[in-house]
Amino acid sequence: MTFPTDFVFGAATAAFQIEGATAEDGRGASIWDRFCRTPGKVLHGDTANIACDHYHRLEADLDLVRELGLDAYRFSIAWPRVLPDGRTVNPRGLDFYERVVDGLLARGITPMATLYHWDLPQVLEDAGGWPARDTASAFASYADVVGRRLADRVAHWVTVNEPWCSAFVGYLEGRHAPGIRDLSASLAAAHHLLLGHGLAVPALRAAGARSIGAVVNLSDVHAASDRPANVAAAARVDGHENRWFLEPLRNAHYPDDMLAWYGQRADLAPLRSGDLATIAVPTDFLGINFYERHVVAHDSSEPIHEARKLPVPPPLTAGGCAIRPDAFRDVLVRVHRDYGAPVIYVTENGAGFADYVDPEGGVDDLERVEYFRGYLGAVEEAIAAGADVRGYFAWSLLDNFEWALGYSLRFGLVFVDFGTQRRIPKASARFYSQIARSRGQHLALTAAT
Ligand code: FCB
Repeated sequence: MTFPTDFVFGAATAAFQIEGATAEDGRGASIWDRFCRTPGKVLHGDTANIACDHYHRLEADLDLVRELGLDAYRFSIAWPRVLPDGRTVNPRGLDFYERVVDGLLARGITPMATLYHWDLPQVLEDAGGWPARDTASAFASYADVVGRRLADRVAHWVTVNEPWCSAFVGYLEGRHAPGIRDLSASLAAAHHLLLGHGLAVPALRAAGARSIGAVVNLSDVHAASDRPANVAAAARVDGHENRWFLEPLRNAHYPDDMLAWYGQRADLAPLRSGDLATIAVPTDFLGINFYERHVVAHDSSEPIHEARKLPVPPPLTAGGCAIRPDAFRDVLVRVHRDYGAPVIYVTENGAGFADYVDPEGGVDDLERVEYFRGYLGAVEEAIAAGADVRGYFAWSLLDNFEWALGYSLRFGLVFVDFGTQRRIPKASARFYSQIARSRGQHLALTAAT
């Protein structure tokens, strides 16, 4: 593998998934704290009250990033630590993130900070949540508060992480917090997440931020056959998961086919067209998270999109995602070709497996090694095809709280024993570290053990 010498290798995490300390130093509750306490929402009733206890193990965890030889670390800032009641600044919340940033810089690691990785303060949900327009301006005020404290030291800023998941998994499918199932609410939520992004960018710039982008999760979507009904169903899934976010962010409009489809099923009044110029504010990069490839058939019994995702053939991750590096390459190349050749950071990519510690005390996650080998190869191919990919962040540094799946699925380069909080770098960590350290040289990669 050959990556440009200035290509950035990093790892990513998110506040709620790793920090724990949910009631410490003035932190307020988030929608995910509430969701975890609601019976039946999170597998096995898991909570993130302790998670990886990262809040108390910050320095040792940052040492891990350095020991892996990574250039950059993507973390998220918990809005309810900074503004517990949605309005009043909690300096101790900001102090923690200042320690994160300064700790990274002291170790020679570039910080990439995400402002919103799904942990909306519960008070703001009580006031209407993302379906309410005011939440977008509340987000811009939060961006301003954080930016004024940290923009001088954070190299890259992400406004919102995966607005598709926040809006549609949270307010349409109800599988994520706040667990609502309402198409109109979810479309309003998606719009206000995008608007929040558009308002946060100038707030961050005014605070001195230099590199800012949104992160979208994109999927590779194919029709089950060339039957027109299947092709149309696939176009709706693509419209829902990809174009609904790429078009407004990059081209200042919503896709016409989806506007027509949703217009017959939902109230689109909150989607004020005057907001589109705000949403499409110029940014410095587009963050892409990639996990999924879908094969879609028409099925009129499926709610809303009348589209069914067919079971995917192996190889699969334990989370049921198809292992298809070619799908990843195609998505990167598509964004480059169809959406104005943006600077791209792959802000997340990785695989969930049921890892375990072997009798010798190691974690030989060879499936994940193969996954990273394939997907990093896809990034190289996308770059060779012209895509301006500047960096890659493995999801995740640590095994962590995987949302509604609790602790059942492990994504880390580093294994976490949740009983003792012991960290054990996996075989994939050594493999990834080897790639990061040998950039610019041609490497015949071996599954490092
Ligand atoms: C993404 C999320 C991230 C993590 C991975 C597996 O959708 O952004 O927090 O849960 O999936």
